[in-house]
Amino acid sequence: MAAEGYQQSSSDVQMEGGKLFIQSIVDPQPGDAILDLGCGTGELSAYLAELVEPEGFVVGVDPDVKRLNLAKESHRDIKNLTFVEGNSDNFEGMGCEKYDIIFLNQVLHWIPDQQQAFKNMFSSLKEGGKIAIRYTDHFPPYIATALEVLTPEIEERVKNSSYHVDKVSVDRFCVTEGFEIVKSCYANDIKVEFQSVDAYLKWLWSTFHGKFDQNLVTEERIQQFLTRVGNPPFDFTTENVNTRLVAVKPKERTDVHDEDAEL
Ligand SMILES: C[S@@+](CC[C@H](N)C(=O)[O-])C[C@H]1O[C@@H](n2cnc3c(N)ncnc32)[C@H](O)[C@@H]1O
Repeated sequence: MAAEGYQQSSSDVQMEGGKLFIQSIVDPQPGDAILDLGCGTGELSAYLAELVEPEGFVVGVDPDVKRLNLAKESHRDIKNLTFVEGNSDNFEGMGCEKYDIIFLNQVLHWIPDQQQAFKNMFSSLKEGGKIAIRYTDHFPPYIATALEVLTPEIEERVKNSSYHVDKVSVDRFCVTEGFEIVKSCYANDIKVEFQSVDAYLKWLWSTFHGKFDQNLVTEERIQQFLTRVGNPPFDFTTENVNTRLVAVKPKERTDVHDEDAEL
């Protein structure tokens, strides 16, 4: 199952980078209300829930019901954590100024209309609340090469299932909706290593929700791939550059109104 495959591999790749991001910049506080948008199998939601307990809570939202069911099953003992089906256009608390933090780890590049997503996030945050987004703003070469060489028949279809938008445009979406950017930077923050060809193929399959068809991968294509990237273990760390964005919904300025009142 792609969802189980994702859960196993995500603990290495997504979890490590996500935790680092949370610890270094996101800075959740006890009592915070957090939305983990695109929570996948919920490992980082569970970590966030621990950081904000006892009064704070986390809502994990994902459109992939299989991943969400695994999340519910795996983290059912955590009292301040709930998982609800949804997506960036329709999620628990949307438009209700409910959250202190909206967190997205490696989700933005799966969202087709990112401008709309920023609009929805803005209306769902409390004043002074923040978005914390870790994403990839280009298709990483180690994935592009694999699709090109191993599954050329479906290369375009698989590539087009994600929506990589460059950092400058993402920053523009963010500011257009009224956010103030606190940090927007690149980070080469995690090791991306696979011990074998099989491990890498399995990861591709699960990360593309089963759309990466392993049946198309012949022995001959594997040899071509190895000629391009070298023999396993693979270390794709230097090719894996992430983008980190933290931005705040400004508090309404009361001083301007006060001055108006005096006139
Ligand atoms: C790479 S996974 C990251 C999962 C999780 N955040 C983590 O760090 O392990 C991307 C997730 O985004 C979800 N996703 C795809 N499109 C989405 C959308 N429009 N809104 C919210 N989540 C979406 C996918 O179902 C998937 O679980």
